Amino acid sequence: MNPLRQLISERIRESGPISFAEFMDLSLYQPEFGYYARAAQRTGRAGDFFTSVDVGAVFGELLAKQIAEMLRLIGPKAQSPKPEAVDLVEAGSGNGRLSKDVLDALQRTDPDLYASIRLSLVERSAAARSAQRATLGDHASHLVHSSAELPEHVYGVIFANELLDAFPTHAVTMTDAGLREIFVDERDGQFVEYLETLSTPRISDYLSRAGAKMHQGWRAEVNLAAEDWVGTAARSLEKGFMMVIDYGHSAEELYGASHSAGTLTTFKSHTTFAEVLQTPGDCDITAHVDLTAVTRAGEQAGLESLGRLDQTYFMLGLGLDEMMALDQSFEPSAMQRRLALKTLLLPGGLGSTHKVLLFGKDVGKPTLKGLSYRIRVT
Ligand SMILES: C[S@@+](CC[C@H](N)C(=O)[O-])C[C@H]1O[C@@H](n2cnc3c(N)ncnc32)[C@H](O)[C@@H]1O
Repeated sequence: MNPLRQLISERIRESGPISFAEFMDLSLYQPEFGYYARAAQRTGRAGDFFTSVDVGAVFGELLAKQIAEMLRLIGPKAQSPKPEAVDLVEAGSGNGRLSKDVLDALQRTDPDLYASIRLSLVERSAAARSAQRATLGDHASHLVHSSAELPEHVYGVIFANELLDAFPTHAVTMTDAGLREIFVDERDGQFVEYLETLSTPRISDYLSRAGAKMHQGWRAEVNLAAEDWVGTAARSLEKGFMMVIDYGHSAEELYGASHSAGTLTTFKSHTTFAEVLQTPGDCDITAHVDLTAVTRAGEQAGLESLGRLDQTYFMLGLGLDEMMALDQSFEPSAMQRRLALKTLLLPGGLGSTHKVLLFGKDVGKPTLKGLSYRIRVT
């Protein structure tokens, strides 16, 4: 029997149905049997799904351009024992592949800046953390912090790709008796959904702030962990920038009719909610991110929102089109690179589903390269 099933089953027998957030937390992150706990890498050709990092090193190269600009704008820290040092913090870094791509690029294009970087990789999965030094190779000497927790003081840049969508969310549905939270119970050896009053008033506060007007039968997710994480990250930032990339929508769209069935997804297509409940730990579970709530949480914790735009436009601002035009050779590596760039650009692909949110703290309102195409803010 799936050991995680057994563990969840015992928990339900001991203390009653668990919230869907707790179920998702155990499914993905239970330290021994959770989906992310069992492997150092879950994405890419050998894994279950693709992120922009899997497309190739070009994603990291483009991010490196934005990071270099940001780190230069911040400048060296006054009265620091090592004044030239700046922090680069990747959260939800997995085994560190994206940071490796970023550092490879910075080493080539901005060697002085590269030399000054203190890298922190924040990752909840111990298996992924243990693979980070090997992934970083020669860059491992820059790694000063590898932990499940964010560093307390950051002078530099915090960035995260597809982190917030992987946070455990509460799930709710509107019934004829009012809003109910979805819990997981066990009946006849099967996990089934069980509706109860809300486990915390934060859920109804959240939905009313979002302006959600759910009709009977509608379902939705409430990602309280994303708000909390953004608040913690914002407070840890002494001076610098935060860059969050994820797929999501404004609260108005996320809690509107177009997403009335909710957005919980697994990488296995055609999986129903009932099926998701039967295989804890075997597959990824994600929910689309409420970008309005993320922006608000950042602002409430002292960040200034600098912009939000489609990943495609962000990358065009950083010179994706120039990179494509630069090398027109028919060498296999050049062709592969152009293909990777096209994959990031394709309409309906990662570039248009994913949004980039940029924040600053104590840096004013600089015109960042990545925001040059802010003609389409979605
Ligand atoms: C969908 S994967 C994305 C990995 C990588 N950023 C990429 O783009 O390929 C999400 C990652 O976030 C990690 N994670 C989830 N919650 C976290 C948290 N609170 N702090 C740090 N990492 C977390 C997961 O273990 C997983 O490695």
